[in-house]
Amino acid sequence: PVIRREDYKAPDWLVPEIALDFRLDAERTEVTARLYVERNGDHDRPLVLDGEELDLLFASVDGDPVEVAPEGGRLILPLDGAKHVVETRVAIAPARNSQLMGLYASGGLLCTQCEAEGFRRITFFPDRPDILSRYAVRMEADKTLYPVLLSNGDPVANGEAGEGRHWAQWNDPFPKPCYLFALVAGDLACNADSFTTMSGREVRLGIWVREEDLPATRHAMAALRNSMAWDERVYGREYDLDVFNIVAVSDFNFGAMENKGLNIFNSRYILVDPDTATDLDYDAVEGVVAHEYFHNWSGNRVTCRDWFQLSLKEGLTVYRDQCFSADMGSEPVKRIEDVRLLRAGQFPEDAGPLAHPVRPESYMEISNFYTATVYNKGAEVIRMMAQILGPEGFRKGTDLYFARHDGQAVTCEDFVRAMEEGGGVDLTQFRLWYSQAGTPRVAATMIHDPEHRRVTLTLSQSIPDTPGQANKKPMVLPLRTALFDRQSGQRREERLLMLTGAEQSFTFEGMTSAPVLSINRGFSAPVIVDAPRTQDELAFLSAHDDDPFARYEAMQQLMVNALTEGVASGELETGAVIEAIRTSATDPSLDDAFVAEAIRLPSEAYIGDQMLVVDPQGIHDAREAMQQAIGAALEPLWRDLHQRTARPAFSLEAGDKGARKLRNVVLSYIAASGAEDAAALAFAQFDGAHNMTERQGALGVLANGMSAERERALAAFYDRYHGNALVLDKWFQTQALACHPDTVEIVRALGRHSDFTLTNPNRVRSLYGAFAANQWAFHSGGAGEGYRLLADLILALDPINPQTAARMVPPLGRWRRFDVERGGRMRAELERIVAQPKLSRDVMEQASKSLAD
Ligand code: ARG
Ligand code: ZN
Repeated sequence: PVIRREDYKAPDWLVPEIALDFRLDAERTEVTARLYVERNGDHDRPLVLDGEELDLLFASVDGDPVEVAPEGGRLILPLDGAKHVVETRVAIAPARNSQLMGLYASGGLLCTQCEAEGFRRITFFPDRPDILSRYAVRMEADKTLYPVLLSNGDPVANGEAGEGRHWAQWNDPFPKPCYLFALVAGDLACNADSFTTMSGREVRLGIWVREEDLPATRHAMAALRNSMAWDERVYGREYDLDVFNIVAVSDFNFGAMENKGLNIFNSRYILVDPDTATDLDYDAVEGVVAHEYFHNWSGNRVTCRDWFQLSLKEGLTVYRDQCFSADMGSEPVKRIEDVRLLRAGQFPEDAGPLAHPVRPESYMEISNFYTATVYNKGAEVIRMMAQILGPEGFRKGTDLYFARHDGQAVTCEDFVRAMEEGGGVDLTQFRLWYSQAGTPRVAATMIHDPEHRRVTLTLSQSIPDTPGQANKKPMVLPLRTALFDRQSGQRREERLLMLTGAEQSFTFEGMTSAPVLSINRGFSAPVIVDAPRTQDELAFLSAHDDDPFARYEAMQQLMVNALTEGVASGELETGAVIEAIRTSATDPSLDDAFVAEAIRLPSEAYIGDQMLVVDPQGIHDAREAMQQAIGAALEPLWRDLHQRTARPAFSLEAGDKGARKLRNVVLSYIAASGAEDAAALAFAQFDGAHNMTERQGALGVLANGMSAERERALAAFYDRYHGNALVLDKWFQTQALACHPDTVEIVRALGRHSDFTLTNPNRVRSLYGAFAANQWAFHSGGAGEGYRLLADLILALDPINPQTAARMVPPLGRWRRFDVERGGRMRAELERIVAQPKLSRDVMEQASKSLAD
């Protein structure tokens, strides 16, 4: 059953109010729901309530019991009048809910995840985001097992219920869609704080975790307070309830969830301390806490009319959290990281069988559309609008958007219209970014006319065909561009070129000599640029471009050119890359974090993305050889930097974070150099580290090799941390990511390790998600062992957790990118998957679309 965007119809019935009563128990919870329903418009259609795996105990309409049985899960109730009160009581089994959608048990807690369609697994309800209701929630539970009872909104009353039980009542004054409903019951401790909003409202903040995890919540609390202040300052958005609670749970399908006033988090995005978390983990906590908090306006106060509009809240909120993190740390480095993520996750999606527009046209299972396209490309679309409108115009646009649509469920079109009116621009053609899939390609050619001292830059664009979409229209591509004078190193004025036609020329006057082109600076448009520049010109830009992103980009392009040519010809040219790296690594004007980004070789997967047919072995060999050449040629520099970046103690200060980042890159070059003491040096960093960033960095370097130190370090790491699930994930992940000839065998064995479990999504992702991202290991093995391993995992996981299983399918769906033999084996595994009789809709959609031609 395919759901189509064009089929949207307003709901037949509204539910302005709902009262929920939970008798909580892990084995059997009873849920009584009283729905105050109102006919919407002039029609005689029945009330249809969604339901899934609900055991119906009782139903009544206006107090009169009715005999009704679910049909295909749904309850269909013919009603005469305009308003009725419908009551149902159901039983559910949280302890047996391994899908982690609806109400489920996690580590002694009871918690919920409703987005997108989990509320129907809790009670019968029209489960769609355009039904906004006021919620009154009463819950009752055993006092010892569940001393803390939380839900959305404000706590209004609580008391004893007898027989060792107690109850609490929470009311949420803001009408909300049911996907934002949440409930948590458990034995939790609270990191309590408060925040005074700009209008003087006092908000009680709470981060709820297991008692022993309390100290690890401090960073998340700081991030929350910073997010609240930032949203006031930058967007004029103030928090609106008296309490804001966050709960960390260890079994969670995604990162976190923005339930009104009660955000629920995957514990990996809350709990950090120096001994167990890397700087990347710290940054992720800050970013995700901000993301969920920002949803209070971009998502909750203004929500989505239907799930095709998902990017309305996700693209905007990702853009907001990206800007927040940039403000809290280094803007250039944050941009580089975000672009790297986009290229690693979204570009391949946009170039493969699962490509879809930012606003999809159809789906079988909406959970499959929480994608890099909807989130990250969606954020780029917002960023381009912000660029086009300028800071003041963009703020006027968002002010208008929030004022006009507060309390409504709206569409991407409503957002764009607010941008147009607020910013005073015409975005008619720009809207194609929402409807056309595929990464646009821009080709640039530059002609210098010395006589007229004029440069003509000709840009042309093409949008590739994607499943169901061919012959696309030219889009609006805002390209920040500058020309550099080769002799003086001077930059001419930067221009924002708007490429709107299939081909356009732009002229630059007063150019005595042929300049060097710096284009798509700051990655102002999420496109692929083919600009003919020599290695020499790229080296020049990597040393002189004043836009940090463009500088990084020039270095990446320089490396990619050398590596892809090396793969094609078998002759690797290393000189230019080594010199450019030397220049950056010794430039005193650059900070360590930026240098670490700039001097790192592109990933094997990214190199593969630049090739017509991915050659995993050739890429691996060339990259290893390049790494070795850089390591050996600059060995004294690396040793010097490794010493200079050592710190006596841990701090989160930007300079120290940058030093740690650089130190790990430097260590990998020393290891690659082949120096005899390299493994000992890595082990010393591993063993002596006072923080997880350096410890895991060293472990990763050792895991690639075949040294005795490798086994010692892995064993020591396991011994020290096996009691901490989040750190144990790193142990699995590091081995799955290793460039080690036996990685397939190692991953297979780890899948049978006593600490491995299919019921915890973090654990599954840290082993198999990492393995599938390890291009060389996943695609090595002539008989396709890696593919079979992943397909076996998908089939074993599907009956337990279809959402997480479906997320493992896309790596197999990339079969067209590989040679016939590999491609055939990947396809064979997909065919084996779709042939499985009881496949979930989630996996079926991903696997069958991956096979379709
Ligand atoms: N809205 C959540 C977030 O981005 C993600 C929820 C994902 N849930 C799902 N079932 N796909 O912050
Ligand atoms: Zn989100």
